[in-house]
Amino acid sequence: MKLLVTGGSGFIGSNFIRQILESRGDGVRVVNLDKLTYAANPANLADVDQRPNYQFIHGDITDPEAVRTAMEGCTDVVNFAAETHVDRSLLGDASFIETDVRGVFVLLEEARKRGVRRFIQISTDEVYGTIAEGSFTEESPLNPRNPYSASKAGGDRLAYSYWASYGVPVVITRASNNYGPYQYPEKLIPLFVTNAIDDQPLPLYGDGRNVRDWLYVRDHAAAIDFLLDAGEPGEVYNIAGGNEAENIEITRQVLRELKKPESLIRFVNDRPGHDRRYSLDASKLARLGFASRTAFQSGLSETVAWYRNREDWWRPVKEKDAAYREYYRTQYGDRLATSSATAKEPAGRR
Ligand code: NAD
Ligand code: TYD
Repeated sequence: MKLLVTGGSGFIGSNFIRQILESRGDGVRVVNLDKLTYAANPANLADVDQRPNYQFIHGDITDPEAVRTAMEGCTDVVNFAAETHVDRSLLGDASFIETDVRGVFVLLEEARKRGVRRFIQISTDEVYGTIAEGSFTEESPLNPRNPYSASKAGGDRLAYSYWASYGVPVVITRASNNYGPYQYPEKLIPLFVTNAIDDQPLPLYGDGRNVRDWLYVRDHAAAIDFLLDAGEPGEVYNIAGGNEAENIEITRQVLRELKKPESLIRFVNDRPGHDRRYSLDASKLARLGFASRTAFQSGLSETVAWYRNREDWWRPVKEKDAAYREYYRTQYGDRLATSSATAKEPAGRR
């Protein structure tokens, strides 16, 4: 197998590359095509980047020439490359449409011309939108409600159309919220862990009672490895962690793990269009023979330990990266100035 992994220098992609090099040994060659946006970190793969069966190419999935070069001789493709942060998408960043829709198109076109064994499009549970009760199955209608999830839904359906129209053997995965080592400190868990280590406030949106299902990143990586062989072309697979919780509960667990006081919690103005609850039915994947294994408490303990041990990884971002600091000011400056110790009104369902 010669595998093109796009976005392999980000959070999930780097965990996946480590996983597949371990599980398949000499049976795989990996090409990682990554633009190295703010969310990437070459250090994520420092322990594997000298391996003879690993190659890095610095390039953009929206660039047909870079994609042509990277896909040369590849039997399989896994597309992780994306702009991924909902809050940044709400700031009106066009790169979400560029990468998450047009980039997918460029990859699919190359795969169509070349012919590949599998093309895995990494989609997200957010394409379904919000659900008050029960869980989304792969048959549920898509109802994305923010620019990130809408652009991912575009990429998801575009990938499907290449199966339906041209027979490109596309497999689509929709995973729930990932957490674990190497996650950029803008998402809930790494932001709150690193803020709490520094006794900085933890800005909880709205009433803190939005629900997410938490999937340990290594379980996600193992699921993708599994689906490279077991996934049926044209099919969608939900990937869940089986760990649903309100954000306030996750926050309290982070604080308990670090032995920090709950007084660090600040309720701040809600995210616009904030999806209330995500919940996935992953029985289709279970029937194929895969289930996530990591209980949230043990995954969180490992994650917190990782951030404690790897200050060399996150402090340069949080303390020295001017763009990160500017983003933090834009996103949280006013919110923290008007925050309170008690819950704010949720944004409501529009
Ligand atoms: P991330 O933001 O940590 O990393 C994204 C990576 O993609 C970075 O390395 C970045 O440099 C690269 N990239 C961005 N634009 C690119 C472009 N135009 N060309 C080439 N590379 C580019 O993201 P992540 O959290 O690892 O997410 C990976 C994938 O998983 C995404 O497709 C995301 O939508 C999906 N997903 C994420 C989650 C989650 O909880 N993080 C859950 C479900 C699905
Ligand atoms: P996030 O990690 O951004 O993932 P997503 O929006 O893709 O689910 O957010 C997870 C949950 O945590 C979501 O309900 C929003 C909430 N949240 C906060 O309350 N405060 C924050 O500072 C962040 C980043 C997220």
